[in-house]
Amino acid sequence: TQAPVNVTVTGAAGQIGYALLFRIASGQLLGQDTPVKLRLLEIPQAVKAAEGTALELQDCAFPLLAGVDIFDDATKAFDGVNVALLVGARPRSKGMERGDLLEANGGIFKPQGEAINAGAADDVKVLVVGNPANTNALIAQSHAPDVPAERFTAMTRLDHNRAIAQLATKLGVTVADVKKLTIWGNHSATQYPDIFHAEVNGKNAAEAVNDQAWLADEFIPRVAKRGAEIIEARGASSAASAANAAIDHVHDWVNGTPQGDWVSMGIPSDGSYGVPEGIISSFPVTCSGGKYEIVQGLEIADFSRERIDASVRELTEERDAVKQLGLV
Ligand code: NAI
Repeated sequence: TQAPVNVTVTGAAGQIGYALLFRIASGQLLGQDTPVKLRLLEIPQAVKAAEGTALELQDCAFPLLAGVDIFDDATKAFDGVNVALLVGARPRSKGMERGDLLEANGGIFKPQGEAINAGAADDVKVLVVGNPANTNALIAQSHAPDVPAERFTAMTRLDHNRAIAQLATKLGVTVADVKKLTIWGNHSATQYPDIFHAEVNGKNAAEAVNDQAWLADEFIPRVAKRGAEIIEARGASSAASAANAAIDHVHDWVNGTPQGDWVSMGIPSDGSYGVPEGIISSFPVTCSGGKYEIVQGLEIADFSRERIDASVRELTEERDAVKQLGLV
């Protein structure tokens, strides 16, 4: 059998962590042939809770789980890491300005980027889930100069999955009938879920919907604000669906996307579709052999262009703000 893959999860004692770890250990992240070693990173106050989760992981007797180690030190937690899931972040508290939020997260993602740079395995893949995910990924990446920049990604897969589910419901089809949906831009309320290239049972999704008012006034805002809808209903933010999306993101990155479909990932822009090079923005991508590639040649109509540009503008503003703070 294969040597275990080291998977580091930060914020392991949080609610996403609790929904995520058991699925990783059961083989859903990397596949049923791949043993995993979990390395959990928490702040000192939450180490005890992480230890409790580790006891439960042990009690599952997962055949693929080769071990669980718990750390409150990033340098140790990322030593030898192959897959890094950066979930722990500083949430926005009441009255907190954006600058303060970015600075607080810089205090987390800068040292974690440095630790990844110092100790990660050559094949390391990084997914940032903790918000503001795109800009946190940019901060970590800029402190890991020895790691190829494209290994730092941010999660927009939950938005992607939410959009597929909403579209399938609208059209009365199953989610498996929907292909080639795209989330562009930032994982924030400015994101743009694009159905103009999506297909439903092989037909163009926008034509199948044929309802511009639904698209502009219901679908796009509902997907973009789904996080708030979940908080309102559940009294807590999305956790199981976020963990599920993190599993999907890494699974497809490692194992490839199916023929005739693509997924959305926040990745460093290479300048495609007019998105400034270097910012971490969501694109349609296909994955194969452990690498992703931006889907090229899509025609972007004015309706989409405006919305992509608005979200990208927000990302460049966030980038400029963290630059000013000396975080990138
Ligand atoms: P949570 O508050 O339940 O857990 C966060 C955990 O991170 C806590 O246990 C905390 O102790 C830990 N933590 C804080 N600083 C840390 C550090 N420096 N190192 C290691 N651990 C640290 O939060 P939850 O619900 O698990 O969400 C985590 C993050 O994911 C939040 O930032 C949330 O906004 C984000 N999120 C992102 C989504 C996306 O689609 N990209 C979707 C849903 C949530």
